[in-house]
Order: sequence, then structure tokens, then C-alpha cells
Amino acid sequence: MFDWKNFRKPIIALAPMAGVTDISFRQFVKSICPEVVVFTEFVSTNALFFRSEKTRKMMEFDPELERPFIVQVFGADKDSFIYSCKCIEELGADGIDINMGCPAAKIVSSCYGSGLMRKPELAADLVKTAVDSVSIPVSVKTRLGWENSDDLIPFCKGLEDAGACALTIHGRTYKQKFEGESDWNPIYDLKKEVSIPVIGNGDIASLEDAKDKLGNLDGIMVGRAAMGNPWLLREMCNFYFDESGNLKNKSSMTFEELSSAILTHCEIAVRHKGEERGIREMRKHFCAYIRGFSGAKDLRIQLMDSDSLNDVKEILRKFACTSGK
Ligand SMILES: Cc1cc2nc3c(=O)[nH]c(=O)nc-3n(C[C@H](O)[C@H](O)[C@H](O)COP(=O)(O)O)c2cc1C
Repeated sequence: MFDWKNFRKPIIALAPMAGVTDISFRQFVKSICPEVVVFTEFVSTNALFFRSEKTRKMMEFDPELERPFIVQVFGADKDSFIYSCKCIEELGADGIDINMGCPAAKIVSSCYGSGLMRKPELAADLVKTAVDSVSIPVSVKTRLGWENSDDLIPFCKGLEDAGACALTIHGRTYKQKFEGESDWNPIYDLKKEVSIPVIGNGDIASLEDAKDKLGNLDGIMVGRAAMGNPWLLREMCNFYFDESGNLKNKSSMTFEELSSAILTHCEIAVRHKGEERGIREMRKHFCAYIRGFSGAKDLRIQLMDSDSLNDVKEILRKFACTSGK
């Protein structure tokens, strides 16, 4: 069984990102970097409880490729938690992560996500409810605090006492949302006070950032920078796990290699979602992949208009011919 404590360190994780870390992006990331721990987009425990098929589909995964596979949930209702945790265990996931960091008004006003940082007893109680319902590990992803990091250590100690097996901390407060710089110092202090693995998150955009920020932590989680540049995760894994391995990052890629990678990502998306939806949902990734070279803007515009795999292939092929790439 997957176990956060004994898992290879440093843990390199792809951050859960709603609308981004769907089955196709996760599988693409795993295909280029098998060591990465992947999380689903956050999944509503209430929606699962009320048998939403759309929400259930968000938990589909490839058990061969996506290991360890962690389902992230949000909610605050005990019955929904018990039902959802059992479902997730039955699906064969390796772990359940509880979201206590989302700052969206709609989420916080129902006391989900970041809202739970203001209700430490409820937060700990939800962890205990999940832990008591399943045998797979339960972890939590949260932020430094509501307005400052004063309560981070007692809050997290409460989660650890309730049975949380790992913590990921995004180095911003609820109030900061995504503004300003993330501060990792309170995360290093937290690590000294708990005995479970602690993963740091926030503003990792290069291997250098990861090396600078890891400190005494057990791992690093990368979010936005992996969108458009999932090779960053591979670069990190290669650095930490196999220093003699070939290092390939996006900046050293030829256009041919980038095109081929984009097509692989598209093919996975089409396989899981059908052609129309698969290619439509690739748009945000096209925007992220196609950057930083001459003609990128025009190419992005053309790709945003494509509605089939063949279109994408043809657009990339023509661009390669006309731009001499
Ligand atoms: C588009 C988007 C969607 C996100 N969705 C989630 C989510 O579902 N669950 C979660 O815990 N965090 C979510 N986050 C926050 C990220 O997991 C991460 O904590 C944050 O982006 C900071 O890391 P970064 O600087 O590496 O991006 C989301 C962030 C973005 C940009």
C-alpha cells in the first residue's frame, strides 16, 4: 500500500489544479515523468454523495500509469465524506487529500477549502472521519493561514493528531489568494514540529527554485509552472533521482520535439474525451505550450481555432515548414 512516509524523497508532485490536472494532463505528465505524484482536480464530496456522474468521471484514472494516484476532495459534511472516501478507496486510488486551501468565495462561504482553516476542530474532525472510513492514507493541502501564519503549527498539529499522513502547504495566506510572493519560512518551521511528511508549494518555476526552496522539507509541489512546461517536473526528477539521466527541458527542445509532445498530449485527451471535447479542452494547454519563440502568437491563434486532431497536426506541420523550424 502507498505510504507517504516511506515514499521516495524528495517527493515531486504535480499540484491539483481544477480545469487543468484532468486525466489527459496527468497521464501526459506521467508518461514523461513517472516518478511524479499526481492529484486529481478537487472533487466535491457533496456531488459524489448525490451520485453526480460528472463528478465521478473526474476520478477516472489509469491504474497502470498513474501511481501513486491521489484524489483530492473538498466539502465539510461528514456523511458525504464517509461515502466519498469509501468510493475513492473502492476505485483503487492510493490516497485521499482534503482541500483546506481553496480561497474561492463560493467554496469558503460554505466552510470548505480555506474556510476550514478558521474551524480547526471541524477540520481535524473531517480528517478523523476520513481516516476512520478507509485504510488508504489521508493527507491535507492547506495554506499558511487565514491572514498570517500564526496558527499554522497548531492547526497542522491538530490534523496530524487526527490521523493526517502528509501535509502540503501553499506558502500564501487565504487573504493573499494568489497575490504577492509565497513565503516558505513558516513551512520550514512547521516541519520541525510535526513527524509526518511536509511538502512545500508556491512559485516553483525552475529546477533552481526547487533546489533553493526544498530545505528541510520532504517534497516540492509544482502547479502553474508545470502547465505548458511539464518537462520541469522531469528535470527535477532527473536531478534528484538519476543525475546521469538525460536532461531535457522545454528551452532546449526543438520545435519538432515540442510538436510531437503536444500531439501526444492531444491524442491522450481525444482517447479519454472524444475528439471535439478533447481538442477544445486542450486550448488552455496550447496557450501554455506555445510561448517564447517567434510566430508563437499566430500559431496559438490558429491552434485555438482547431477542432480535430488532424487540424492540430496540420497547423503544426505547416508552421514548421513556413517558419523553417
Ligand atoms: C487553475 C488553478 C486551479 C487550481 N485548483 C486547485 C485545486 O483543485 N485544488 C488545490 O488544492 N489547489 C488548486 N490550485 C492551487 C495549486 O494547487 C497551487 O497550490 C497554487 O497554484 C500554488 O502553486 P504554484 O505557484 O506552483 O502554481 C489551483 C491553482 C490554479 C492556478
